Amino acid sequence: MVTAVAPSRVESLASSGIQSIPQEYVRPQEELTSIGDIFEEEKNESGPQVPTIDVMDLASEDPEARARCRAALKRAAEDWGVMHLVNHGIPDNLINRVKVAGEGFFNLPVEEKEKYANDHASGNIQGYGSKLANNASGQLEWEDYFFHLIFPEEKRDMKIWPKTPTDYSSATSEYAKELRSLATKVLSALSLGLGLEEERLEKEVGGIEELLLQMKINYYPKCSQPELALGVEAHTDISALTFILHNMVPGLQLFYEGKWVTAKCVPNSIIMHIGDTLEILSNGKYKSILHRGLVNKEKVRISWAVFCEPPKEKIILQPLPETVTEAEPPLYPPRTFIQHIQHKLFRKNQEANGAK
Ligand SMILES: [Fe+2]
Repeated sequence: MVTAVAPSRVESLASSGIQSIPQEYVRPQEELTSIGDIFEEEKNESGPQVPTIDVMDLASEDPEARARCRAALKRAAEDWGVMHLVNHGIPDNLINRVKVAGEGFFNLPVEEKEKYANDHASGNIQGYGSKLANNASGQLEWEDYFFHLIFPEEKRDMKIWPKTPTDYSSATSEYAKELRSLATKVLSALSLGLGLEEERLEKEVGGIEELLLQMKINYYPKCSQPELALGVEAHTDISALTFILHNMVPGLQLFYEGKWVTAKCVPNSIIMHIGDTLEILSNGKYKSILHRGLVNKEKVRISWAVFCEPPKEKIILQPLPETVTEAEPPLYPPRTFIQHIQHKLFRKNQEANGAK
């Protein structure tokens, strides 16, 4: 049994000058063989690449252009479940402000950031944090983060939003609104892609009042032994959709056709994941892809992930009847979002205990 202790910040560990990383951060032997140098991996032009989808025409007046755009999005959602969205309509200067604000917060001394520390034991999950060893393996990840709900506005807790930099709240609030409307556009296109009415998936994940947008700013310090660690271990997102910005330092890898594929850094793009929620609702037609984050020796990597999640208990997630046929029976049992999370955790702990 692992008892939870206050986590040490990876940033402090990284800046302490240690040459070998603590054992808790070293991945198991079978995983180490697949961890390479991320800068070398990013140069790899051979083999499959994460698709880039131009979504400008989702709102086109021309029905054919709209249909073409939707078809491209649908294909990427079915084949990869992850893509670089370009021409997404969110102004570059707003995205820049979000990045400058997040970097500004992480540039504060650790003691300043600690004033925003979360506390899982008392249920305060929002704020500044690092992973706790919460499973039997006790394995840790090479990152610190800042996590908070950013939409709907009335569900936000502004007390825990960083006061420094001063633009943080305003930039993040504007970005949240923009992302929320992008999520609606994407959900409409994905609904039509399943032969459903346009508003259907939006409704199924909670609509404007219940779909929660939670931002996690991931801060990956430089790591003296990047070949031994992971910034984020392999997982699929539980969300409906996840939107990710980053500071143009590579790190994201996708497990596609049995191999780890490194995502290129595409200027002015937003990475979008289909999460488990849409995989379940679509009865597996849209994929929630396994992915992980690598770290490196030379550059700090920061990413801004916004998870669009259904409410924890109000909605039962299961394959929509229209996606089920005799030949394609339901692949997932009905579960609330929280039950889905618990089920994943249970499976993971079982694996860690060797009961595969
Ligand atoms: Fe993820």
